[in-house]
Amino acid sequence: MRLAGRRPRRYPHGHLIRKRSILATIIPIADVDPALVEELLDAAFEPARRGRTAYKVREGMECLAALSFAVLDEDQMLVGTIQCWPIALTAPGNGHSAGRAYPMIMVGPVAVLPALHGEGYGKALMTASLTAIDPRAPLPQVLIGDPEYYERFFGFSAAHTGGWQLPGPFEPHRLLCRTAVPELLPPEGMLGPWRK
Ligand SMILES: CC(C)(COP(=O)(O)OP(=O)(O)OC[C@H]1O[C@@H](n2cnc3c(N)ncnc32)[C@H](O)[C@@H]1OP(=O)(O)O)[C@@H](O)C(=O)NCCC(=O)NCCS
Repeated sequence: MRLAGRRPRRYPHGHLIRKRSILATIIPIADVDPALVEELLDAAFEPARRGRTAYKVREGMECLAALSFAVLDEDQMLVGTIQCWPIALTAPGNGHSAGRAYPMIMVGPVAVLPALHGEGYGKALMTASLTAIDPRAPLPQVLIGDPEYYERFFGFSAAHTGGWQLPGPFEPHRLLCRTAVPELLPPEGMLGPWRK
């Protein structure tokens, strides 16, 4: 959805945001100045965010434009973003599937300005990305995050990721996957960028 004439702006640092009923707009993240997106991510995460394991999983990839969004409030202020990435789970071992890369979608970071948490922006962003995935060939969706949020609202689960590895430290209960056909998920493998 491209909305002509809508130019996202940023909240000034320290701006006090009143809680109220908000008419939000979701636009493609490609329509937002990348510097504003980085500023918002800096506000939502700790400064060392770029060293996170999640960043290594999709290192060198461009985000999937059709699945990545920003949310603006009614004043056209940027309040949240979501990005999705092409990744793969590469099978280990010596068998016939050794080294095979299974394509998946990495979801996140999902980020909302801290002063506006709990207003529904996070759910709106997640819903936008998950419903934009082509239902005719839905790839499994992967994220590293709080199961209390992503399982409760969107059906992500760590039930099938126990044998998966990441290129850095992680807490296994936070490696989550969402798929309609869990029986097709490879039981083991290393997650990394989609390089095919
Ligand atoms: C996680 C995040 C995106 C959620 O966005 P949000 O706009 O605050 O959440 P929503 O308003 O859509 O949802 C609010 C509901 O989710 C719950 N919730 C929010 N974050 C949660 C979390 N980390 N764990 C469990 N529940 C959570 C709230 O309690 C609330 O529940 P309720 O509806 O029963 O009251 C936001 O908190 C954020 O930007 N956090 C910092 C960045 C981050 O950790 N991102 C996730 C990892 S990529």
